[in-house]
Amino acid sequence: MESQEFDYLVIGSGIAGLLSALHLSRLGRVAILTKREAFESNTNYAQGGIACVMTDEDSIERHVADTLDAGAGLCDERIVRQILTEGPASIEELIQTGIRFSVRSEGDGGGYDLGREGGHTKRRVLHAGDLTGREIQVSLLRAVSANPHITLIEHCMVIDLITTSWLGLDDENRCVGAYVLMRATGKIATMRAPVIVLATGGGGKTYLYTSNPDVATADGVALAWRAGCPIRNMEFIQFHPTCLFHPKAKSFLISEAIRGEGALLVNAAGEPFMHRYDERGALAPRDITARAIDNEMKSTGQACVYLDIRHKTSAFVHTRFPNISRTCKRFGIDIAHDLIPVVPAAHYFCGGVMAGVDGQTVIPGFYVVGEAACTGLHGANRLASNSLLEGAVCARLMARTVAQKTASLFSGKRISLPPWQFHGAVPSDEEIVVEHNWNEVRQCMWDYVGIVRTDRRLDRAARRIRNIRQEIREYYHDYLVTGDVLELRNIAAVAELIIRSAQARKESRGLHYTLDYPGSGAVAKDTVLDDGAGEKI
Ligand code: SIN
Repeated sequence: MESQEFDYLVIGSGIAGLLSALHLSRLGRVAILTKREAFESNTNYAQGGIACVMTDEDSIERHVADTLDAGAGLCDERIVRQILTEGPASIEELIQTGIRFSVRSEGDGGGYDLGREGGHTKRRVLHAGDLTGREIQVSLLRAVSANPHITLIEHCMVIDLITTSWLGLDDENRCVGAYVLMRATGKIATMRAPVIVLATGGGGKTYLYTSNPDVATADGVALAWRAGCPIRNMEFIQFHPTCLFHPKAKSFLISEAIRGEGALLVNAAGEPFMHRYDERGALAPRDITARAIDNEMKSTGQACVYLDIRHKTSAFVHTRFPNISRTCKRFGIDIAHDLIPVVPAAHYFCGGVMAGVDGQTVIPGFYVVGEAACTGLHGANRLASNSLLEGAVCARLMARTVAQKTASLFSGKRISLPPWQFHGAVPSDEEIVVEHNWNEVRQCMWDYVGIVRTDRRLDRAARRIRNIRQEIREYYHDYLVTGDVLELRNIAAVAELIIRSAQARKESRGLHYTLDYPGSGAVAKDTVLDDGAGEKI
């Protein structure tokens, strides 16, 4: 099958991938690989916005303090300060690419219309109505398509990274390329590049209910783990407190910004309940809010709770939240006059591939930026709207490091890359195995590795996922790979990493809450798993 060569391979087409590609295009030829259409990314669905200090009434130190507070003792303070300090420069860069954030009218004082979300003590969330991610995605894709140094390859999926140790060579381990499934033809390309940037986003699809789009299958964490990278803090899965509760809504997100504008969380009796859990009420950080909702639902036997913004004018809510308003209307809910039924759903991975603020991993030439990375910014619970900022800042810092290291990154001896080996695999006549295991992984994670955990639930999940992974290995060995099998293999591998990390943490902290150890230990420690190298299946 074909082989292709670039200077830089960027895997993923959200904010971190597109900005990485734009920066690297100043240094050489870049290919962006993306699983489906390029606009299908978590970024595209981000509603709330991008948190950054934008006024003199706010300060970097305040933003740092809010981030550390949400992170429950596990953020790396040096990294937090660096990313948040670099924030304004990245916002300026986004504006230069044509992104238009919402502004206030002159009558309201002018300037950017800054929103507020849970855990923020100040209004500092830049947004474009409630379609911030869409605005970012469209503008960056426009810049990418106009760039002659970038080749955008859609509908292709990386099977595995090719490293020198994967090839069994004695050299110092480094990344040299990737095997890539071209989904339309089923052919497998060998792509060579001395620098690979992984920006594949998160993996909400590991859980049955998620705010994430279908592409969010934790591919990056699984790829990096198999390539030998340490994976950090995977137990910290952020559940967004408020996704629309409706059988046909696919956990559509109701942005936290709606609570920033005064919406209350109420139970079926119409009573606000958040003050019973935290003095910040509906604007408490997400770990506390999601747990409170879970508790309300379980203790009252109700299937959901409600958001109530009926005290605001119709004109205000429909103008400030046009997309939420339109979507809810499709399901028969007028957000200005009705209660909005909501439930928590898996939303964001705070852990990921251990990486520096510039994306550097333990493998020379291999960088990870955005949600797939764990830089130390989010600790045990991400502060809302810090993630788009992290993606933008880290992509820029990654390109700066790569530019400084170009000579060494491009000096490795040229290795011949063997084509993909099919080992007698045949087309599958048992697709049902994939469908069945896909559902079972997600149901198991939802039931046993969710908002409230116990040792027994985790052990049960570990046993089930171990069996499923064994079946997947056999299937993967016997049949030709497809996109569906690759995604299943990745969600199952990452499910196991989440469970093992959760089992290792004998305390409750941030997003990891277990009835067996309800308190936090005196010292906050990372969970690191470092045994993926050699997992060829
Ligand atoms: C939201 O709009 O509530 C999501 C923002 C985020 O997850 O940072």
